[in-house]
Amino acid sequence: MTQPQQPGTTDPVLAAGDEPLSNNSDNRYFGDVLQARLSRRGFLRGSLATAVTAAMATSLPLASAFAGQSQRGTGPTLGFTPIPTSTADTVVVPQGYRSQVLIPWGTPITGNYPDFAPDNSGEAQAQQTGSHHDGMHFFAIDGSSQDGLLVLNHEYVEPRFMHAAASGLALDSEGFPQNEDGSRDPDQVLREMNGHGVSIVRIRQSANGQWDVVRDGLNRRITARTPMKLSGPVAGTEHVRTQYSPDGTMTRGTQNNCSSGVTPWNTYMAAEENWAGYFAKQDTEIDRRQSRYGIETRDSGRWNWHRAKGGDDEFIRFDATSHGASARDDYRNEPNTFGYMVEIDPFDPDSTPVKRTHLGRFAHEGVIFAPAVEGKPVVCYSGDDSRFEYIYKFVSARPYHAATADGSLLDEGTLYVARFNDDGSGEWLALAPGENGLTPENGFADLADILVNTRSAADHVGATKMDRPEWGAVDPATGHVYFTLTNNSKREEDQLDAANPRAANGFGQIVRWQEDGGQEAERFQWELFVLAGDGNDSRDLAGNPLDEDALLACPDGLCIDADRRVWIQTDISDSSVNDGIYTPFGNNQMLAANPETGEIKRFLTGPIGQEITGVAITPDQRTMFINVQHPGANTSAEDFAQGQYLSHWPDGGDAIPRSATVVITREDGDKIGA
Ligand code: FEO
Ligand code: CA
Ligand code: CA
Ligand code: CA
Repeated sequence: MTQPQQPGTTDPVLAAGDEPLSNNSDNRYFGDVLQARLSRRGFLRGSLATAVTAAMATSLPLASAFAGQSQRGTGPTLGFTPIPTSTADTVVVPQGYRSQVLIPWGTPITGNYPDFAPDNSGEAQAQQTGSHHDGMHFFAIDGSSQDGLLVLNHEYVEPRFMHAAASGLALDSEGFPQNEDGSRDPDQVLREMNGHGVSIVRIRQSANGQWDVVRDGLNRRITARTPMKLSGPVAGTEHVRTQYSPDGTMTRGTQNNCSSGVTPWNTYMAAEENWAGYFAKQDTEIDRRQSRYGIETRDSGRWNWHRAKGGDDEFIRFDATSHGASARDDYRNEPNTFGYMVEIDPFDPDSTPVKRTHLGRFAHEGVIFAPAVEGKPVVCYSGDDSRFEYIYKFVSARPYHAATADGSLLDEGTLYVARFNDDGSGEWLALAPGENGLTPENGFADLADILVNTRSAADHVGATKMDRPEWGAVDPATGHVYFTLTNNSKREEDQLDAANPRAANGFGQIVRWQEDGGQEAERFQWELFVLAGDGNDSRDLAGNPLDEDALLACPDGLCIDADRRVWIQTDISDSSVNDGIYTPFGNNQMLAANPETGEIKRFLTGPIGQEITGVAITPDQRTMFINVQHPGANTSAEDFAQGQYLSHWPDGGDAIPRSATVVITREDGDKIGA
């Protein structure tokens, strides 16, 4: 059986499911801004690699080269002994810490609680945790740190590990079984769709410290099939009318849910990241509302769900071709119902998830809310994870009042996009009708049109092209906003070697900024927190190269705990990990940093082929949950055909690898990281 042309890329630095470049605007690229800025400060002449060397040669701390950064004490303690990098097929935590695997893919959590089996039905999968665990939050029940709802995203699936029919086939991590005529088995498709989405699962800690699933009425699966409301300016417009929802108010499912967020009113937000690849479309002309997101003329989708035998409506909607007389007669607009932040109330199992369109439509990595202030607008930030895409901020029109706040606050306000200036200042550019040239004459008819076409609007206003924005986090004490920029291979893929690593930015960096005034301000001051990389090509906040305890590449997951520890998770692509320039870093890992001194210490290393992503902390900070996603994804098609998997985590032996949550506690019961 041959594989169709995947709607993706052969770029080795893009992970499975990451999407190729689609920003062809001539806006400035963050690397150019950074280089210009460093040049101005005399840190370098020439390439960024030279810059880093020059920066390491000077004793001038980087932090002191940036204005307005007052010192706020010494920062939080990092009271653990750092661990070395690892290539082992296991999770390693510091001495005095314990780890426990929880809810691996396929764990029964609701309905009839069907036991996991490698060839479970599509129906069983809807009652079990999905695969590819990602963004996550612990919703304490009655303030408890021993009892709560763990809510987590399931970004995607690896079909070769899901279907008995895949056994013996030469399938890579994106491959899937299909019939000779290119059709697919509908129950396989159902299992894949139900392996996506979000899990809500009650968990409780017993006296011996172990955490377990509680069989509870709040447990729920949300999948790529669950009915969802559209809300905000795009809802009900022509852009989102489909055969399923002729009035454009509903859609089905959420997928490729990467990172997440939690609102000030205690609901969960799941991001829709690399959703575009799921769609086939055979129209020869594709509107920029879709082409700017990577939808191309092609008869295949990522998993060819539209080719499931039987032609059920919920499958064929992944073919966005204009087959009918109007948009109400087909699914040409179905892609316009994806690319949003989805709000879910985990405490109401009957609630319909809501896609909040005013937060913009793009490859949302996640969303991070600034601490809400009574009487002030709600402010949140979201990155668009693709090369040369942007960082956004939403400011609500109505003020926050704790007693009445709900998701409707996200339906009215202003979406902004960031411009980073060479002098360390930055501006938030409004994406609103009549602002910054967003007029009908320039092709932006109204607010709904701007939002459904967020990327083009951001191009138009002159936003700064970033190196793949991933997670954000807000320092609860200072309001500093941190964002990971994971890497950007664009400078020439074949320049990704040890001699010219920065030209292609294989390592990534973390930027942080402070708003000028309140969190809703339209200007900010930015600086780099760390340039990730190896010992020859990296720089910490103090201007030094990263040492053995701090080596990291491709920062992705990010979290700042209540004590201000900055937790950093890495995602070196499974196609590159432990290879070439990435050899020094070992398996993907998690580190903790001090936001004042910039000190970084390695806290956790994961098994083979995975990324560490997702982090949740109990209110007492004595339990941390993290996710291990796609262990063994680096298994080649040839090895898969032979039944040789590079990882057997977490079950060991000959087992297939499974994504899972890992629970971290301390033997002395104290706070994590302290
Ligand atoms: Fe799903 Fe940008 O990582
Ligand atoms: Ca990934
Ligand atoms: Ca990510
Ligand atoms: Ca990533």
